Amino acid sequence: MSMAQRVSWLLILASIAAFPANSHAVNDGLARKLINSQGCKACHALEGDGGTLSVSFESMRTRLSRTEIRLQLVNQAGIHGNNAIPDFSHLDKTEIDALVVFIQPIP
Ligand code: HEC
Repeated sequence: MSMAQRVSWLLILASIAAFPANSHAVNDGLARKLINSQGCKACHALEGDGGTLSVSFESMRTRLSRTEIRLQLVNQAGIHGNNAIPDFSHLDKTEIDALVVFIQPIP
């Protein structure tokens, strides 16, 4: 590989790493992974797939703010929707943020 080719590869890699739109895609993937691994779909449906014990993620999007969603997931008093939703305060901040932004994309 010539020096010029090396330099262009570096520029391409640097622009991929710096491209801000990527962070949304990464968080989207994390949120979907958590929705599966944390068992949310036992009770909530996403894109028509999941349980009917509670409302779908699509319907939350039309009604709830990010703050309201966060309070359902991490709640010091331990009071969650009808007390039937498990506590998710074991998740770290990045994970909770990913779920909140995924459920409610509008800030
Ligand atoms: C064992 C069943 C169960 C699981 C698992 C569960 N939830 Fe829930 N969730 C509920 C119930 C019940 C409510 C209360 C709303 C209702 O009455 O339908 C609720 C409410 C919510 C609300 C507020 C919705 C509203 O309309 O007020 C959000 C946001 C939410 N859940 C997100 C999640 C996420 C994210 C996960 C996984 C990390 C999850 N839930 C896992 C049962 C569950």
